Amino acid sequence: MSKRTCGPRALLFPLPTVIVGTKLAGQVNYMTVGYCGMIGGPPSVIAVGIGSQAVTYERIRSCSGFSVNIPSSRQIVETDYVGIVSGREVDKASIFTTFYGELEEVPMIEECPVSMECKLVEIHELGDMLACYGEIVQTHVDEACFVDEKIAISRVDPVLLSPTESEYLRVGDVIGTAYEIGRTLGQRTN
Ligand SMILES: Cc1cc2nc3c(=O)[nH]c(=O)nc-3n(C[C@H](O)[C@H](O)[C@H](O)COP(=O)(O)O)c2cc1C
Repeated sequence: MSKRTCGPRALLFPLPTVIVGTKLAGQVNYMTVGYCGMIGGPPSVIAVGIGSQAVTYERIRSCSGFSVNIPSSRQIVETDYVGIVSGREVDKASIFTTFYGELEEVPMIEECPVSMECKLVEIHELGDMLACYGEIVQTHVDEACFVDEKIAISRVDPVLLSPTESEYLRVGDVIGTAYEIGRTLGQRTN
């Protein structure tokens, strides 16, 4: 099969579109982030990549923690907005309803179906970016997202991001059961 080399591009996609919440000197700010990943657990650690263009870049070093909020497709306009304008120029706190959990200095978004409150545990400076690692101390999920006591991704309806096409997408069909469908290959080769 013919392949095209595309240079050293981070093509891990689609990306989750999340909103990172911070609070510093009493001022709440929200910014959109696509560079977000899980490191596993326990402890459950999440990492976000914050670029030097963001006011969050300067703020986060002085914060004790941050939140990672997963917007649903219903919040697509607000989600894009907080990724276009900076807290330097606009007070973005009023775009959403803020609530707090266990960490007093970590603002979360009521309208988002999933919010994780994180204690800042490590920051790595990588070129123009900060890799910020947060230990998740609590996760808040809308009751409406549960089906048979499990969090249903279709109910969360997260906003996925294609970094190559700058487009938002929705989660599609279920195509198999994880940790199970692979067994059918073993059965075929036996
Ligand atoms: C869909 C989308 C994804 C983004 N992902 C990131 C990201 O991963 N890291 C980053 O530093 N900026 C990202 N941005 C840009 C920031 O959200 C933007 O610079 C924002 O204005 C920063 O807000 P702040 O200055 O209030 O911190 C993204 C923007 C959009 C619209």
